[in-house]
Amino acid sequence: MAGKKSSIEELEHMMKEKEIAALGKKPHSAEKKQEKLISLKPKVQKKSHEEKKQVKPNIPKPSKHEETKKIMERIKEIQQKSAARTKTRVKSRQLQEKQISLNRAKEFKVPEKIPGKPAEEKEVKVSEGKKLKSSKSIEKQIKESIRQDIKEEKEEKIEKKQDETKFFGFKKEEKKLGVLEKYTIELDGTNVEVEMERTRSGTIYNLHVPEIGIASASLLGEIRNELVSVTSISMKEILDPNAFSEIKKRFMTEADKLLKTRIPTITEETKRFFVGKLIQDMLGLGEIEFLINDVNLEEVVIPTSKEPIRVYHKRYGWLPTNMTIAKEDEIANYSNIIARRVGRQITVLTPLLDAHLVTGDRVNSILYPISTKGNTITIRKFARDPFTMVDMITSRTCDLDIAALLWLAIEYEMNVLISGGTASGKTSLLNACMPFIPPNHRIISVEDTRELMLPDFLYWTPLVTRMPNPEGKGEVSMLDLLVNSLRMRPDRIVLGEMRRQREAEVLFEAMHTGHSVYATLHADSATETISRLTNPPLNVPPNLLKAVNLNAVMFRDRRKGIRRISQIAEFEADEKGARANIIYRWIPEEDRFVKHAESSRFFEDINRNTGMSQSEINNNLEDKKKIISWMVKNNIRDLNDFGKVMKFYYTDKESLMESIKKNDIKGILNR
Ligand SMILES: Nc1ncnc2c1ncn2[C@@H]1O[C@H](COP(=O)(O)OP(=O)(O)O)[C@@H](O)[C@H]1O
Ligand SMILES: [Mg+2]
Repeated sequence: MAGKKSSIEELEHMMKEKEIAALGKKPHSAEKKQEKLISLKPKVQKKSHEEKKQVKPNIPKPSKHEETKKIMERIKEIQQKSAARTKTRVKSRQLQEKQISLNRAKEFKVPEKIPGKPAEEKEVKVSEGKKLKSSKSIEKQIKESIRQDIKEEKEEKIEKKQDETKFFGFKKEEKKLGVLEKYTIELDGTNVEVEMERTRSGTIYNLHVPEIGIASASLLGEIRNELVSVTSISMKEILDPNAFSEIKKRFMTEADKLLKTRIPTITEETKRFFVGKLIQDMLGLGEIEFLINDVNLEEVVIPTSKEPIRVYHKRYGWLPTNMTIAKEDEIANYSNIIARRVGRQITVLTPLLDAHLVTGDRVNSILYPISTKGNTITIRKFARDPFTMVDMITSRTCDLDIAALLWLAIEYEMNVLISGGTASGKTSLLNACMPFIPPNHRIISVEDTRELMLPDFLYWTPLVTRMPNPEGKGEVSMLDLLVNSLRMRPDRIVLGEMRRQREAEVLFEAMHTGHSVYATLHADSATETISRLTNPPLNVPPNLLKAVNLNAVMFRDRRKGIRRISQIAEFEADEKGARANIIYRWIPEEDRFVKHAESSRFFEDINRNTGMSQSEINNNLEDKKKIISWMVKNNIRDLNDFGKVMKFYYTDKESLMESIKKNDIKGILNR
């Protein structure tokens, strides 16, 4: 009977024996088991019945028994491998199916995977498909199965890879899109890196400040105490911005010395970092100082100790940071440091603080429980690198014609009002126009918050209002300063923002007494500006509006995030009322500026002030356009560089035009 068996049967029989030996069980029970395992065995018998006869002469002889045994082992090996593979395949499939649904994944698994069985099933399938006739064909079969094996392994690898990319696809993509931008912030000789990192929950502002170990921290603590004892600061020094930089220098040299004596082997870089850290902790607001020093940030907010610090980034808007202030007390402490610097205090009884840092940044702080979630600080940053007219043109906020017209108005002492909505860029435009003022004119600016920043060459006295102290004393209002500024023999008066009737009265009074006035106002168009001026609370009599020579309106498209001068207008006014004549306007659909109507009085006013004819005015405007476009082309955008060109213009216009013709940038800037 054995001789009639097909070779595969023989192999299976041997396998059975082997298994029995391995399991140490009785042959018949093992046989049953084997039959269960190889469920397709009877099928093989039936199907290969025809071939059985042909197979007969090729039945492996006993001499080949060893060889067959080896082959059997190999088959078993393959079976085991296959079983393992099936397991991993199922695992990766599970991963895939996890996303679809758990139940469905289970359904998939049930018919396919009965632990340990699919492998055998598979092998039998192979033998069933290709009816084996001899040991040679067995070999062939095995080779084939090995080949299949390798192929499957390869496929599996690919499948696994695809699985991973499918499953972790987002992660990989996130990594790729991960960092939107990277730059460094320099502070007190230390550079730290900032990354705008994109995550699933949005963009995060990541500041990478090197961590300080326990040992270094305790050393810094000791040095801090020593520093306090060796350097003294008077209250006067703290309140004086110039003295403050002196204190900082003093602290830095002392800290430098102390660090060198404590750690003689310290590297220059580490020392700089430690000195910076000491200064930031002792004289500043710790790591927040880095945020304050990031020119790309407009606002820094410490919401509470439970939430991350948030920043308003020029390019990305509001972003959470990777920084938090650990304790509420610490936030209150920072508020106190700021308050003391301006000679004020913030306490449970006076929980509101509005103050200026020596850096010009404005700080607002509210303590718990008035701020119900916890102590909060809002730092509105002072623009350290303000927009100049070159930026206004490169950012297409206005065009050359408008820039030249504004210059003409400011040079010849016309009164200019800048209107616009919240954060439309009114103050920025006002600031960009200021360098057009000739250098020998006295400028007095009055603001609630220090925002204006003029080039060095100008003769400028900036004044800032002050809130009353907790006893209600010491207030210096905008009106006080405006009235006072008239006693300072100003040529130009700049008002940050016109809000109240008395301020408007003083301002119009100043215009009428021959001062050149510039101010900003909250209104969305030239017509609305008139309406705002002539209605409560400002209540300016309409006929006084004649004093305004030019009105520039700023517009901010919140959706596109662009800012444009939407109108340049003049006011025509009499006792009955006032109306706006729009000279230039911006066409939103085409994003360009067009001349809208002929000026009815602006050039007349210039003519009256200067005696220039219209053609002279036109030539003057052309020269101005040449100068500005040369600056735009050479990106002379820095405030003081811009100022240098202006100074050159006002002292020797002919030479400037010559130098521009020769494109002598160095000659112009190093004059
Ligand atoms: N022309 C401009 N282009 C791009 N950003 C601008 C422009 N003008 C102002 N900004 C930005 O808009 C913000 C608000 O400007 P600001 O002049 O203070 O507005 P406003 O005085 O109308 O409240 C500032 O942070 C400034 O950097
Ligand atoms: Mg403003």
